[in-house]
Amino acid sequence: MSNVHPYVGRAEPRVDGALKVTGRAKYAAEFRADDMVYAAAVPATIAKGRIVALDLSRALSAPGVLDILTHENRPEIPESDEPYLNDMVAVPGSPFRPLKDDRIVYGGQAIALVIADTHENARHAASLVAAEYEAETPVVDVAAARGEAYDTFEPRDGIPPPPPPRGDAEAAFEGSAIRLRHDYRVAPEHHNPMEMMATTVVWEGEGRLTIHTKTQGVINPKNYICAVFGLDPDKVIVNSPFVGGAFGMALRPHYDLMLATMAALKLERSVRLVLTRAQMYTMGWRPDTLQTVALSASADGALTSISHHAVQATSRYEDYQEPTVNWSGLLYDCPNVSLKYELAKIDTATPSDMRAPGATLGVYALEAAMDELSYELGIDPLELRLKNYAERDGNDDKPFSSKELKAAYAQGAERFGWSKRSPEPRSMRDGKELVGLGMATGCWEAMMQPHSASATLSADGRLEVACGTADIGTGTYTILSQIAADEFGLDIGDVTARVGDTTLPMAPVEGGSWGAASAGNAVRAACKALKEDLLKHARGLDGSPLSNAAIDHVAFANGRIALGSDESQSVSFADAVRASGQAAVSAKADFAPDEDFSKKFAAYTHSAVFAEVKVDEELGVIRVTRVVSAIAAGKILNLATARSQILGGVVMGIGMALHEETLWDKRLGRVVNANLGEYHVPAHADIQNIDVIFVEEDDKANPLGVKGLGEIGIVGAAAAIANAVFHATGRRVRDLPITIEKLL
Ligand code: MOS
Repeated sequence: MSNVHPYVGRAEPRVDGALKVTGRAKYAAEFRADDMVYAAAVPATIAKGRIVALDLSRALSAPGVLDILTHENRPEIPESDEPYLNDMVAVPGSPFRPLKDDRIVYGGQAIALVIADTHENARHAASLVAAEYEAETPVVDVAAARGEAYDTFEPRDGIPPPPPPRGDAEAAFEGSAIRLRHDYRVAPEHHNPMEMMATTVVWEGEGRLTIHTKTQGVINPKNYICAVFGLDPDKVIVNSPFVGGAFGMALRPHYDLMLATMAALKLERSVRLVLTRAQMYTMGWRPDTLQTVALSASADGALTSISHHAVQATSRYEDYQEPTVNWSGLLYDCPNVSLKYELAKIDTATPSDMRAPGATLGVYALEAAMDELSYELGIDPLELRLKNYAERDGNDDKPFSSKELKAAYAQGAERFGWSKRSPEPRSMRDGKELVGLGMATGCWEAMMQPHSASATLSADGRLEVACGTADIGTGTYTILSQIAADEFGLDIGDVTARVGDTTLPMAPVEGGSWGAASAGNAVRAACKALKEDLLKHARGLDGSPLSNAAIDHVAFANGRIALGSDESQSVSFADAVRASGQAAVSAKADFAPDEDFSKKFAAYTHSAVFAEVKVDEELGVIRVTRVVSAIAAGKILNLATARSQILGGVVMGIGMALHEETLWDKRLGRVVNANLGEYHVPAHADIQNIDVIFVEEDDKANPLGVKGLGEIGIVGAAAAIANAVFHATGRRVRDLPITIEKLL
């Protein structure tokens, strides 16, 4: 074991790595119970209308079938006084309730739940459920709905509406020498995590349930399910120790949780429901969005106006919102800014957060437009960004808590070799391929949320830290272990971190890149509280060498609390624990963001992304041969897991630029490529050289100096690639993905 302090800041291997690669890490669909039965959801074959008749006869007589739940026979669900059913990440509107009534509001909506003795029997019987519908014509294209776009919605919690205009963007635009206005569109995307949404409800008897469900935060689905079914929170445990990718899709509870619980309560036995890959396309998605960006500048390249307008798809039943245009008011220094954000209702499930919601789309459009402006001006794209560098957040008129974006530009450009770029489009070649170099800026908010954590030291010298947050694959177990090991000078092997269980201290969902800063600081605070307690016990020992020692004068290392470097002036952890009269000493602490600080400062992470593409002129094939992503995100807790987050973000950016596209049949309103054969994500062969740089950035927003980086890696990546494609080919494609036919 490596006992090299500090662990924080190193490329420490994942503490759960061995569990994952040996299959011992258990996911929601892998828990079982002796009495367990299997459920399968039946999808509607229309996208809008109502169910006229259901014929269950064939399905009911299929082998192994125990029951079929529909809107006609499902158990009564008590009316809840909670309008959002306690879903803390609900959006304004009326949450979707599966099997509520005969209405079909989106394609693939569950119309029945078959329960059988095996997974296979349930799936087979589900295929035998027949439904007769009265179908209406759905609209699934935001462009077709934009005529009814509206901005009169109730704002979603935590999503700031666009700031009021500053200056007069229109007048400045009209009066400027250099100007452009273009429309941009990014295809709708689905998250496509490896792990399906799944719920295993274990019936513990007497109304007690242990629910294993895929989620980015266990406390939210617990509160939700208790509100939906009127359950006693003391009788429900929700557990989700490992998550096989989520990217935002497991923030809100989905119908697998609701239906599996409904079935378990009705049958009074354990039920497992795993959604199919196709059913993963019937829930949250990155919304179809139409954007228009207008920029103007003086001849020297100083921006004179920015206008950014987005119309974003939402469902009929909820006003999903994300911060799409706001970035255009803070990324550059510009006196005249006009931002507008509207929603348009279509007949799909409600969209959802998907990695860097809002920023991924909005910053793409802004950074593509900035690239276009650089050519209009005849100024290097990087120089144009530097020329308009924002030293303050123009939206809130505040200084940044820290902003090392200039260092990110410089180090990224140096590593990438940006200076070797020849400015003219189509001027660089490698054999028969055109070569293009492009760049873009990325930005994401550095957020924090209140979290609680506990720390427990046993007499055998082992430390356990716990927090009800989630490790969605980002490395939470590892960073919490590093932080705790450093606080006590322990070997990381003597530390256990626990997350993903409602019996642990309070945490909201893990999203928005706030996990590391929030759970990390909560664990740090719990360790500090535990150290105080231990010192108190150590002081109380007969003849304690620490009897007068203050916490600031002792060190915790090598299993001892020591005053100075003299061993005789110390008490072992074991003796301190024994002095408590208990087998272990435990402390709890709460972390909350410092509101005074956030009133004074704007906290954001930034990136400078540089991309090289090679384009086969005859075939239109684009290869992303090199990406350098230079990140300014405060203190980096773990260089290995942090790098993985940025790599993953860049890979998703490559997907957005070149591959990913959820396609709805416009007449039927159903997704036609609801599988990984036809929804293209980047494969290994699409990924070449990705280089990640973390620039030094000292931030004071929280004691650890952490800003979070689960999302910043994707922001700007697609724009850098699209800009590189223009540089290679001279073709400006403004609707992503840039598939072959758009280049030919
Ligand atoms: Mo993230 S889209 O907040 O999981």
